[in-house]
Amino acid sequence: MKKTMLTGLQPSGDLHIGNYFGALAPYKAQYEDYDSYLMVADYHSLTSLKDAEQLRKNTLNVVRDYIAAGINPEKVTLFKQSEVPAHTELAWIFDCLVTVPFLQQAHAYKDKVAKGLEANAGLFTYPMLMAADILLYDTDVVPVGEDQRQHLEYAREAASKFNKAYGPLFKEPKELILKEVGIVLGTDGKKMSKSYGNTIPLFGTKEEIAEAVMGIVTDSSGERPENVYAIHKLIKNESELTPLYEEKKGKYKDLKEALIEDLEAFIAPKRAVRDGLTDADVRKVLETGAAKAREVSEKKMLAVRKAVGVA
Ligand code: TRP
Repeated sequence: MKKTMLTGLQPSGDLHIGNYFGALAPYKAQYEDYDSYLMVADYHSLTSLKDAEQLRKNTLNVVRDYIAAGINPEKVTLFKQSEVPAHTELAWIFDCLVTVPFLQQAHAYKDKVAKGLEANAGLFTYPMLMAADILLYDTDVVPVGEDQRQHLEYAREAASKFNKAYGPLFKEPKELILKEVGIVLGTDGKKMSKSYGNTIPLFGTKEEIAEAVMGIVTDSSGERPENVYAIHKLIKNESELTPLYEEKKGKYKDLKEALIEDLEAFIAPKRAVRDGLTDADVRKVLETGAAKAREVSEKKMLAVRKAVGVA
């Protein structure tokens, strides 16, 4: 019997190679070892995104991106949170079990409000919807970034509160903190991040790749342009790169051109898969996933409703 793994994705904009090597590649290496669920957290997005067209677009895009990046929808239950009503239903039940002071301790909530996001009630109870996402499927492990560690504590607390009040229905999940294969550096040598504008798009056209690579900051002191090399090393072995960087010592433009070609070879097949996936293909994947997720979660909810006394 495989263990169960579930994770949630915020549908937020275009992926870059930092997302790929930092989160997607480690996920790809493991998800087939588990009974895996991959959920687009579209109701979570509503806590900050108030643009219907944008949300619809982002949701289809994130699924398309994940499939194009190599996630096989036949090996994972890939679904949209809003198409599985048990999530919001169970979140309400958890909301009635946890206290306001407990939720007030959430770093994510405090950070978001500090950044100027509206302190709406959905943002405040966000951890209980996330707890429902996880607990409905008897999830064992949840791969997430370090910033989500506390949310897993909240999920365990929701499970434990429920189990104490009504009997042992929920399993306490564990986080699986994704070990980034080192931080992926951007074109300016800082951590690759959309907010720094130093990214290389994962599905960029050759022109976009070339533009990003030509913009890599190189300092003229050394013979090896470190920021070029750091990105190159993501897609090629040291043993392949050493002779090249030896031969082209000091020739930054040649090295950048070599990087463009290698990035293009890495990205082109993914871009082709992505371009070949229609909205209808993506919807079909999501429908299949939601049907499976509804089946599993509904079964859980029958027991939950009975336990709390609404059925
Ligand atoms: N909060 C997560 C994030 O911001 C997204 C998420 C929603 C999630 N539900 C989840 C992650 C369930 C793991 C499990 O990245």
